[in-house]
Amino acid sequence: MMEPQDNIEEDDTASSSSSSSSSSSPPPRALPRQRASLQKSSVCSRSYFMVVMVFFHVYIINVIALLLYVHYNNGSNAITANRDFASRDSSHKVTGPSDPQTPADSGFPRNMYLPRIEGIRVGHVQKVSLVPGKVHEMKTLSLKPLLFEIPEFLSEEECGVVVRLAQLKGLMESQVMVPEGQEELNQQLNLSPEEIFNFLDLNQDGQLQPHEILTHSRVRDGIWLTSENLKEIYDGLKVDQDGNGLLSLEEFGRLKSDAFQRFLLQRGVERSQLVRNSRHTWLYQGQGAHQVLQDLRKRVTHLTRLPSSLVELSEPLQVVRYEQGGHYHAHHDSGPVYPETTCTHTLLAANTTSPFQTSCRYITVLFYLNNVEEGGETTFPVADNRTYEEASLIQNDVDLLDTRKHCDKGNLRVKPIKGTAVFWYNYLSDGRGWVGEQDEYSLHGGCVVTQGTKWVANNWINVDPDYQRQARYQQFVSQQQETQEQEELISELNSDQHVERHQDL
Ligand code: OGA
Ligand code: CA
Ligand code: FE2
Repeated sequence: MMEPQDNIEEDDTASSSSSSSSSSSPPPRALPRQRASLQKSSVCSRSYFMVVMVFFHVYIINVIALLLYVHYNNGSNAITANRDFASRDSSHKVTGPSDPQTPADSGFPRNMYLPRIEGIRVGHVQKVSLVPGKVHEMKTLSLKPLLFEIPEFLSEEECGVVVRLAQLKGLMESQVMVPEGQEELNQQLNLSPEEIFNFLDLNQDGQLQPHEILTHSRVRDGIWLTSENLKEIYDGLKVDQDGNGLLSLEEFGRLKSDAFQRFLLQRGVERSQLVRNSRHTWLYQGQGAHQVLQDLRKRVTHLTRLPSSLVELSEPLQVVRYEQGGHYHAHHDSGPVYPETTCTHTLLAANTTSPFQTSCRYITVLFYLNNVEEGGETTFPVADNRTYEEASLIQNDVDLLDTRKHCDKGNLRVKPIKGTAVFWYNYLSDGRGWVGEQDEYSLHGGCVVTQGTKWVANNWINVDPDYQRQARYQQFVSQQQETQEQEELISELNSDQHVERHQDL
């Protein structure tokens, strides 16, 4: 132990003496040794002391910050676990006026946080415990959107039960052939051609590019126009006079507002030309529902780690069947968040109507209920793309939104395997434990089923990006439930009395 230390001291002294002395004749040995150590201790000790103190302070500050972080983080987890504003606990009742404009701090206190599962990296596998006695593996498929795959989420039997229950209930066409009431709507809005033109001209360059027309007509009419269809319509209606494929305001002004629709309907529209070609039904999952459906919902709550009240107040299970040739072109399950946006599910408590209604689906959990012979993958055309540009999705030769033609060109495809679940977030986080902006990268669709049929089911978890509205809604529902239970109790008591009176007689 001692030897190396001695050596180091020797080396140190030697090097400092050689650097501190420039004279050629060697000075007496004792003096430089002292001087060197003197210099070293006076210079080094002060700066050394400073450095140590700075590090010491930084270290202390870091430790304090870490302790505070852990403390508050645990606190918020405890809140998530224990407090739930749909609970009957009177301490969570309204603490301020319930006006939609109420600032966050004067309405419901922020006591509900939405945990988000970490993706870590694409391909990362985490073990999750969802049912007793079984460990599931959850694999990260993409980070934009945050997307996971869980094989064997449902057993073979469970898949069979869900399919049979859906058949028993009966399925309806997911999309009606002829859109109704468009003309009426146009008349009600009473917009001038110029106003409509400006609305359609997304990039505001004074011309309508094909993708601007296509995007709009697909959303409005539910008919999947292709670039070729559009050329055909332009030719048929002789609207693009200069033949440059773009519509000017003047060219557009010569069209009637429903000209495209009329043209298409005259020509005839097939089911394969719709945005969605499938049949579906809804299955209730609450108390009294088939045990498999109730279990499924519980498993979804464990999987997403969201408060059970949120999952329980969400849409019922949607079961979908695609026949051979069926598809669902690329879409978002939920709309963007604008100040005017209102969510369908919370409208019940909002006491208003709104033209900007959307189903606010924070999470989509998609279950594959059978093995598809060929095709029928779920595509995420822009998953983990560097950028999201709406205009570049629809090019003349490749339309990435078209799941009948270009599924193979998207970034990610999930093969349907019986029992597998995939789930993803349709919204980003707001950074404060609530729902933020729409995640545009969550764009997805069902590729055409080329052989066989395809059965899937969707569990959507509805959350209003407006925390106050969600809180008010849950409060409203829990009050309704309370009233209903009281009424049931009263009627039960009454009927008991009734029975007793009968017995008395
Ligand atoms: C849906 C959907 C994808 C699929 O039903 O909203 O996107 O693969 N389905 O069927
Ligand atoms: Ca334009
Ligand atoms: Fe979807």
